[in-house]
Amino acid sequence: MKIPPRLRLANLPTRIDRMQRLSAELGVPVYLKRDDETGSELTGNKVRKLEFVLPDALAQGCDTLITCGGIQSNHARAVTAAAVRLGLASVLVLKTNTPPPCPDGNYLMNKLLGAEFRFISEQDYAGRRDEIMDDVKKELATQGRKAYIIPEGASNGLGCFGYYQCLHEIAAQEKEMGATFHTIVVPVGSGGTYGGLYAANKMLNAGKRIVGFNVCSTAGEFRERIAGEVREMLQTGGGQLAFANSDIDIVDGYVGLGYAISREEELDFIAKIARTDGVIFDPVYTGKALYGLYHEIKKGCFDAGKNILFIHTGGFPGLLPKRAEFM
Ligand SMILES: Cc1ncc(COP(=O)(O)O)c(C=O)c1O
Repeated sequence: MKIPPRLRLANLPTRIDRMQRLSAELGVPVYLKRDDETGSELTGNKVRKLEFVLPDALAQGCDTLITCGGIQSNHARAVTAAAVRLGLASVLVLKTNTPPPCPDGNYLMNKLLGAEFRFISEQDYAGRRDEIMDDVKKELATQGRKAYIIPEGASNGLGCFGYYQCLHEIAAQEKEMGATFHTIVVPVGSGGTYGGLYAANKMLNAGKRIVGFNVCSTAGEFRERIAGEVREMLQTGGGQLAFANSDIDIVDGYVGLGYAISREEELDFIAKIARTDGVIFDPVYTGKALYGLYHEIKKGCFDAGKNILFIHTGGFPGLLPKRAEFM
């Protein structure tokens, strides 16, 4: 597989620590890869993807990045922060009927970083976001600007290379640590994180179980979507890989009340882990996925003798607008 050009943006490699108290409670060794420490403004899993997407934007001579997401999208914030670093403008197409009067979390960071916004309804976001981003691109062209569109979550053929390379990083860390991570667990929101790991695992014959916990939509829809992203990545890199969609291991059942909506037990779980292991998980992605993993381990779905590596994909700014719910 030919690896596309890469722009160094993230602090890598990220650390791997054992979650001591959680592992003791569950009787299964759980390790944490701290991709929440890839940076500060430019932090979380999206930075790894942008390292492969942005060289293409620069090669095309663009002056503006357009992307989309929820009002608290970590991805949109990472794109804005990267745009500023590269001397580019950013336009964010965000899903909200009414932007909050008092900016908070990622939305506040986007305001500070100088993003332009277009707010669209949930319905338009679901059905027309790509078309709307195209319209913004055309509108900017009439002003002499050249925009580059990054799809939701940067989960495309280029973005998937971020976690394709991350599996190589993990393999090198396993050698250093003298440990093997039999299972790797990630939250799934747009699929590219899972897709990159999945493809690398197959291509390296690493023999790991790659498990995703979807935080929206359904496992079936994500199997289709991730398969498409992996095919796009293979096409981009000229790689060959035979795989079946049914082999994409997504555990459904932990979306709870819906995307970015929290149940009391999920927030209690985040507070419990903060107090026992000293790590803060976000309520939208990592908190839901770790909550899911915790319950699946309790049900006996994971082998006690096998090390699990959970990738903490970031999302801390999304916790702050939830402060009232935590109270
Ligand atoms: C903090 C965080 N974790 C996980 C994810 C999910 O990653 P992916 O979109 O690659 O499935 C996202 C974004 O969707 C995210 O912002």
